[in-house]
Amino acid sequence: MTRQRWTNRTTFLLAALGSAVGLGNLWRFPYLAGKYGGGAFLVPYLIALVLVGIPLLIVEFAIGQKMQQGAIGTYTRLHPRFSGLGILALISAFIITSYYAVVMAWSLLYLFASVRVEWSANSQDYFFNRILELSASVNDLGGIDGSIFGALLVIWIAIYFSVWKGTKSVGKVVRYSVPLPVILLLLLFLRAITLPGFLAGWEMYLKPNWTALLNPEVWTAAFSQIFYSLSLAFGVMIAYASYKNDSDDIVKDAWTTALLNSATSLFAGLVVFGVLGYMALQTDTPLVELAASGPGLAFVVFPKALSLIPFPHLFSLLFFLMFLSLGIDSAFSLVEALNAAVLDRHPHFSVAKVALIVCLAGAIAGIIYTTRAGLYFLDIVDHFLTSYNLLFVGIGQSILVGWIYGAEKLRRYINEVSEWKIGKWWNFAVKYAIPTILAMLLATQFSKDLA
Ligand code: PHE
Repeated sequence: MTRQRWTNRTTFLLAALGSAVGLGNLWRFPYLAGKYGGGAFLVPYLIALVLVGIPLLIVEFAIGQKMQQGAIGTYTRLHPRFSGLGILALISAFIITSYYAVVMAWSLLYLFASVRVEWSANSQDYFFNRILELSASVNDLGGIDGSIFGALLVIWIAIYFSVWKGTKSVGKVVRYSVPLPVILLLLLFLRAITLPGFLAGWEMYLKPNWTALLNPEVWTAAFSQIFYSLSLAFGVMIAYASYKNDSDDIVKDAWTTALLNSATSLFAGLVVFGVLGYMALQTDTPLVELAASGPGLAFVVFPKALSLIPFPHLFSLLFFLMFLSLGIDSAFSLVEALNAAVLDRHPHFSVAKVALIVCLAGAIAGIIYTTRAGLYFLDIVDHFLTSYNLLFVGIGQSILVGWIYGAEKLRRYINEVSEWKIGKWWNFAVKYAIPTILAMLLATQFSKDLA
């Protein structure tokens, strides 16, 4: 069987961008910025982007495209001892898809509830008690929540039909699902800047609190955000790149993906904080408090803010539609990473069948998060995955490429096929900077968790 191919370069770019741009941009980035120093957070964020994010994205695009395999096959071809690293990356991918789909299921329920802005009276109570029906502790599973489960099925069906014909169906979906949320985000931006108080929100978002940079936690957060946001260390970008021809351009695609992804994060922050500024004014709540709401931002604080603006139904609908369309291509990119690995080993299996099995497995694994203790599990899993597994795979990958396969050898290949050339700085980043920084972060995280 010949390998699946993207129909053209734009399709690949849209797919890669769709994977990168997701809930992480809309939900994770703004709350991290709010929590970790406002505008000052941009310093570690941009350092992480240039020093680690872009070099590693170039690595993943290059090795996938050169080896023409998904993560496991690619690592194995780089060195047979490293197949385990691919397995680790794919385990993370599987775990993330299973909870990512659940978060999308919540937003689907919110989308339905938008018609009557059901959460307007008490958005905190609505999220924890009506949607999640959260139990008192992680030990109290308390059965599956029917509506979340139902919504989860709908999400998985949507994911399945996005990947069931591999690159062909993905290519069709991303043509719509990547531009749509951007348009919706623009509409919400226009709404935000026509609300009183939005400037105060922006000030909170962008005004640097430099002392935050002394806190090592801020740095770990920035680096893990870059990993998460660029879908690195999950085998996703490797799989996507493996569907390109081995003579295609690499460097331009990596820069385009990375820069557009970060631009979307910054822009989403403007929307989120603009609306929060308005909410602070309306409810007489200090902005700091709203901004520090953490993960509850998307489902507690922001919905509340939406309920306060004129035409709340319309804007809630637009917001959750954006949430869903933003998330779907990240969710199915993870499924594609898994499918690619299975199909590499069994090229004669049908794509549709492999996709079905992977989707079913992901849906079943997600059931744990539909229980009344679901949120607790989600927090634990998210923490371990984003703080350990990603860093670990990142280190392994840079050692494999930098030292074992040879950074210079890969750089020569990259420069041969790419219009924009990369300099020797990239070798330095891959061989020294990335493993050192990531190892330091891993140690910091570990000592913090032990304490
Ligand atoms: N990059 C996605 C986001 O920012 C999440 C994601 C992680 C997608 C890993 C695929 C792989 O939401």
